[in-house]
Amino acid sequence: MARIDLTGRPIAITGGNSGIGAAIALACARAGMPLALGARRADRLDRVASMARDLGVPVFTRALDVRDAAACREFIRLAWGELGPLYAVCANAGYGLERPVHETDDAALRDIFETNFFGSMHVLRPAIDLMLGGPAERPGPRGHLLMVSSCLAKMTVPLYGAYSATKAAQNHIGRAMRLELAPLGIRVSTIHPITTRTDFFDTVKQQSDKRDIVAHAPAWFSQDASVVADRTVACLRRDRPEVWTGFKGAFVRFGMCVNTLLPRLADWTTRGMVNAPAARGSAPADPAPAAPPQPDNA
Ligand SMILES: NC(=O)c1ccc[n+]([C@@H]2O[C@H](COP(=O)([O-])OP(=O)(O)OC[C@H]3O[C@@H](n4cnc5c(N)ncnc54)[C@H](OP(=O)(O)O)[C@@H]3O)[C@@H](O)[C@H]2O)c1
Repeated sequence: MARIDLTGRPIAITGGNSGIGAAIALACARAGMPLALGARRADRLDRVASMARDLGVPVFTRALDVRDAAACREFIRLAWGELGPLYAVCANAGYGLERPVHETDDAALRDIFETNFFGSMHVLRPAIDLMLGGPAERPGPRGHLLMVSSCLAKMTVPLYGAYSATKAAQNHIGRAMRLELAPLGIRVSTIHPITTRTDFFDTVKQQSDKRDIVAHAPAWFSQDASVVADRTVACLRRDRPEVWTGFKGAFVRFGMCVNTLLPRLADWTTRGMVNAPAARGSAPADPAPAAPPQPDNA
């Protein structure tokens, strides 16, 4: 498969103002890709945009809530107009929730699906329409769609049922789209980070109304967002169905395959999480001294 030269090929990224999205944006800028960045916090968008402009690429930013389908369509349309035909779209915006399923009401469940799953579809659909409508100006694929899913797309753990369901939905839809769109010249890949050092777990804490969240991966096992970003750019250059990162990603991927084959083993390896204090419902009014919060697996 020929290696794609990404220079001058624009990419739109949701959640491009923080963590993995910002790292992907800067890695794409280093590869010469003009950027369209959308997220809700405009000040953070401006900061990443300024860093990318320093790398010599044009940048378009727009304050955007991915739950709003019309706003996403407008974001893609404006980005296309500002930067030229988009080559890639990376649906990255998302958040985590640590809560037992029986304590997750429909409103919370709908909100996480609206952001993580429908928020992805809201930017990918209009991009597909434009990619298919436009002339194929260069040889090679018409475009490349990316969805930042998670390792938890493959196997859930207790307290992350709702989050994992959104990530599995992204993964399944992405796999189907990959096969459906391949004959039309559009590539589709899903990205499966393991625990990555970003603001993700701060948001998990806020969303989960808990003082502590359950640690199910040691801190040393976590990775930098730049690792995910570099593998993502490698995937844009040389297409692959799924992006996993390095030895740690391969280890988790293998473990999840084994656990999928052997569900009783999965029960055994993950059930300890529900014995942790944070898993017993609301935090007690006067809790016993707790271990310091640690990064969690996502
Ligand atoms: N960190 C991990 O360990 C990990 C592991 C596996 C998968 N992931 C996935 O990686 C993706 C990025 O997460 P991260 O780790 O980089 O966390 P992060 O630093 O908290 O970034 C989350 C991004 O999503 C944006 N976002 C959230 N809700 C949004 C909405 N309604 N509309 C528009 N933008 C929204 C946020 O921007 P605004 O708040 O400004 O809108 C922010 O840019 C997520 O999909 C997450 O599920 C993360």
